[in-house]
Amino acid sequence: TAPILRRLADLRAKTSQWRRAGEVIGVVPTMGALHQGHLSLAETARADCDRVIVTIFVNPKQFNNPEDLEKYPRTEAEDAIKLAPYGVDVIYVPEPEEVYPAGFASTVSVAGLTDVMEGEFRPGHFDGVATVVAKLFLQTSADRAYFGEKDYQQLMVVRRMARDLDIPIEVIGCPTVREPSGLAMSSRNLRLSPEGLQVGARMNAVMRDVAEALGRGAAFEALARKAMDDLRLAGFSEVEYLDLRCAETLEPLTGATRPARLFAAAWVDGVRLIDNIEVPPA
Ligand code: PAJ
Repeated sequence: TAPILRRLADLRAKTSQWRRAGEVIGVVPTMGALHQGHLSLAETARADCDRVIVTIFVNPKQFNNPEDLEKYPRTEAEDAIKLAPYGVDVIYVPEPEEVYPAGFASTVSVAGLTDVMEGEFRPGHFDGVATVVAKLFLQTSADRAYFGEKDYQQLMVVRRMARDLDIPIEVIGCPTVREPSGLAMSSRNLRLSPEGLQVGARMNAVMRDVAEALGRGAAFEALARKAMDDLRLAGFSEVEYLDLRCAETLEPLTGATRPARLFAAAWVDGVRLIDNIEVPPA
């Protein structure tokens, strides 16, 4: 398995050597409990870069719900074993004080993109994400960073943040990896009952039906009302949003008039699931 580094000084010793040799460094930021979605990012990074760093840090600042933080799975030993076939160079698992030293007082906040969807339903979440990702970019001094489209809004926020702050890193989006049922892989799926897994799979099925109707030129409003009912009937206890938005700006759309994405968030078994899919222009 790859060496696990827990100290920034040890990480920097490696990366400065790599940089002196002119090697391209890729980073895959994660919170651990790795599944095939995370591993696909490591695989893409491995194919693209000379050096690959996977980071594992369960970032308290991005959890708006203390119970979610407490229940978040922590499986470091298994994670290292799962990464072994991908030949990553280093697993960086910083001690909390390497990320948030005593007296830590700074926040990175991205306006606009964070007003809607995850930003609306998880107050403070994206400040936590933008702050930790800015730090991980600077700590790793990576040239490229790999993010999943599973968290599409996060991908947009992180890209904006890196551009705005002149962090010289290319943010690369990678396709969502799904279970055969269509359910997007997520560390939180570990908390679903067998029935919950079946309900969860309905989210993507309903979304694909909506996307198909949009492709035939249907208006979103009526489709959305029915789809939200369908999700509740399927067993979701609460549907937070089902939104059609511009794939670039995340502005709301009334139909598939330009490259769009369909986004959803809903609760089952006390677990909050999110998904999004591409909607080609009608
Ligand atoms: P985490 O949820 O562990 O996800 C780490 C990365 O894996 C993110 O880029 C996420 O989009 C990607 N990912 C998760 N599930 C995926 C799937 N089914 N298919 C493809 N990619 C998937 O996202 C975070 O951690 C954190 O917010 C983080 C960026 C690490 C900052 O703390």
